[in-house]
Amino acid sequence: MDKKITISRKDFLRLAGFGSLTLLSSLAAGSLISGCVDAGEADLSPTHKSSLSKWEPDVEIALKATLGEVQLFKQEATRAWLYQGRVLSGDPASLQHLPDTYVGPILRFKVGQKVRIHFTNELPEPTIIHWHGLHVPHEMDGHPKNVIDSGETFIYEFQIANRAGTYWFHPHPHGRTGPQVYYGLAGLMLISDDEESALGLPSGEFDIPLIIQDRTFNEHNQFDYLPRGQFDRMAGFLGDQVLINGRPDFELSVQARPYRLRLLNASNSRIYKLAWEDGSPLTVIATDGGLLEIPLQRDYVTLGPAERVELWVDFNHWVVGSKLRLQSLPFSGIGASGMMGAGGSLANGASFDVLNVHVGRATSEGERLPDRLSEIQWYKPGDAVNPGQPRRFNLEMQGMRPTINGRSFEMEAVAKDEVVKLNNVEVWEFANRSNGGNLRGRGMMGGMNMPHPMHVHGLQFQVIDRQVEPDSMRDWESVQHGYVDEGWKDSVLVMPGERVKVLLKFEDFTGLYLYHCHNLEHEDLGMMRNYRIDP
Ligand code: C2O
Ligand code: CU
Ligand code: CU
Repeated sequence: MDKKITISRKDFLRLAGFGSLTLLSSLAAGSLISGCVDAGEADLSPTHKSSLSKWEPDVEIALKATLGEVQLFKQEATRAWLYQGRVLSGDPASLQHLPDTYVGPILRFKVGQKVRIHFTNELPEPTIIHWHGLHVPHEMDGHPKNVIDSGETFIYEFQIANRAGTYWFHPHPHGRTGPQVYYGLAGLMLISDDEESALGLPSGEFDIPLIIQDRTFNEHNQFDYLPRGQFDRMAGFLGDQVLINGRPDFELSVQARPYRLRLLNASNSRIYKLAWEDGSPLTVIATDGGLLEIPLQRDYVTLGPAERVELWVDFNHWVVGSKLRLQSLPFSGIGASGMMGAGGSLANGASFDVLNVHVGRATSEGERLPDRLSEIQWYKPGDAVNPGQPRRFNLEMQGMRPTINGRSFEMEAVAKDEVVKLNNVEVWEFANRSNGGNLRGRGMMGGMNMPHPMHVHGLQFQVIDRQVEPDSMRDWESVQHGYVDEGWKDSVLVMPGERVKVLLKFEDFTGLYLYHCHNLEHEDLGMMRNYRIDP
């Protein structure tokens, strides 16, 4: 960024509200940030100013959302919306741009670091950044009510309290998250800690992020979003080609040695069923919220929108010179999204190639896969205040509208059954009830059976139970062996006819957070609600 960051009065007011944040000097001490200081009520009193200056960040970053062009194909460049940034102070390796792409940058932080990010909106419409998976105060979470207009700056200040892992960030304005992510806005946030470093996992050039997205380009190489209008919106956007790290021609050249591959499904609504073409099993070492306890083997991994999974891949398993393909295998039961595929684009549940890999000679000795990766503090259902009576969220299509308990998003509204208590552990149940059995082949009605990748802001949860209706069993069997529920999650795929129970704990922060379907078209159609953590 060569432009000076100018902070408008409105932003100063926002900043002023952050005075209370300086209380968050130590998360370990369990400081509590209560309530939101409304920007309108705050004033620029000296105390606020001085408390602001007392928050001394370890890393300070300027980040902007802006319009740009990237050369993805020969001839015409593709117009995209991009995050660009630079490190103002602290470790210069805290921000890394990926070359020749619209995705990124990669932010790298260590647990305990205090971070200040000056975010400037240079888009022609309002936006705000959400830090997906992070445990931060609600004012810092990128709620749609905190959108900033074109030309404005929002200053984020938070301390990294999550475990080491692969997190990400993306826009969160109400009704426009789908298109803003689609046009290019999404980046990774990789967090490390001592426990993880001590394991000696493959690092540097052997630690590779792979952001998986699908896109459709028109004949002028421009992003085509929802070409078929409203029906596409309800089904969720599905592109006709897969891009890795924002490149249509991405190929991975590796050495015959172990690698850490960090996979993020940053697609608007596509689900991937990832497997090696030759049937070699996948070794999973981490999920949304970081390392598993032990490495796990899967024949395939099912990755819904927003989910992350980290693989340990020892390419020494293949002959030097071989070419491998990571594929998405076919699966069934996704109703409308599957039917849309018949109309020309790549169906959700179709089979296609995701990644080409070339195996070359190793120049260095490889690491050994650790037997144990981390400690996970498992919640017990008995810890919950409602062990036998989960807080129930019915995921239902009402006509063209996907809803949660029959409700749609309202900016500030919280229903009685959406209020929880600080420090409580609860069981939540997401129920994707199919519309009276197997309706496939009955046109539109069958299309109402849709997957809903459910995401809860502000915390990581644990999946404790999955049930499926008998009618949906066969379809479910085509994806369920690829679920990785043995670790921390912030997003969980709920397939048609499926009910998923999770255990969550509301810690450190009170206030307004979101939970929603991470099919971004569903989210934009209002399949999102607030929940509130009360003291
Ligand atoms: Cu990645 Cu509210 O979402
Ligand atoms: Cu999120
Ligand atoms: Cu949904």
